[in-house]
Amino acid sequence: MSATAKQKAPMPEDIRARKGDTPLVSLTAYTTPMAQMMDEHCDFVLVGDSVGMVLHGLPSTLGVTMEMMILHGQAVARGLQSAMMVIDMPFGSYETSKEIAFENAARLMRETGAGAVKLEGGVHMADTIAFLVARGIPVMAHIGLTPQSINTLGGYKVQGRDDAADAVIADAKAVSDAGAFSVVLEKVPEALADEITKAVPIPTIGIGASAGCDGQILVVDDMLGLFTAFKAKFVKRYATLGDDGAAAIAAYASDVRARRFPGPEHVFSSSAPKAKSK
Ligand code: KIV
Repeated sequence: MSATAKQKAPMPEDIRARKGDTPLVSLTAYTTPMAQMMDEHCDFVLVGDSVGMVLHGLPSTLGVTMEMMILHGQAVARGLQSAMMVIDMPFGSYETSKEIAFENAARLMRETGAGAVKLEGGVHMADTIAFLVARGIPVMAHIGLTPQSINTLGGYKVQGRDDAADAVIADAKAVSDAGAFSVVLEKVPEALADEITKAVPIPTIGIGASAGCDGQILVVDDMLGLFTAFKAKFVKRYATLGDDGAAAIAAYASDVRARRFPGPEHVFSSSAPKAKSK
């Protein structure tokens, strides 16, 4: 991303200042054309580690590497002019120590031009968030369902129901106190998301949370109907590009087999066409 391209994009502090304002709009992106498509509509675009599942066919986000994030981050950066880019820290790149977290966060920002990183975890990641923020790395936190922990959470379950609500509230307060400029709330009960949104001074970004959050995010392949392996309850499909694409490919295959494609308009004559006389 060039310095010029970044000039119009909001900074993490602009996102923080949108607390309680018109809801923030965000989607994930992994490629340049998709980033270009959403740039003018989104306040920030997340290069999510969901890339592993939706583009690379991995069974979870656990197999996503720094190299994958950097490659997709660079592609997304080329497509953005006016939206801020946030990039996910992949599993294993920030949990071992604050110092390793800093090295990897700095590398993600340096090599992609992202304006901020996102990492998963609440109370137990608060010290790391404070360490990064104090050293110039804006952090978006991610609590509730944290997909990098599915093996300890026991699957993609709703988090924070009944007695578990207090722990999610504590997570939200901890990441906010640590200096995160916003927090993603994933797959938590609506009432809990509303309570957290009132309790913390930073914008809450909902995914499977509540319309009362300060913003919303969806995985772009989910909302466009491109990722069809499964559909979470919180996904609203705004298009059926997966089905449309499959139908188009079937039509192409049938045209090729019946020699309907290429047609006369797609082929070239043996001699160059004569220039038209005036
Ligand atoms: O990786 C991702 O796409 C995410 C969103 C679901 C918030 O973290």
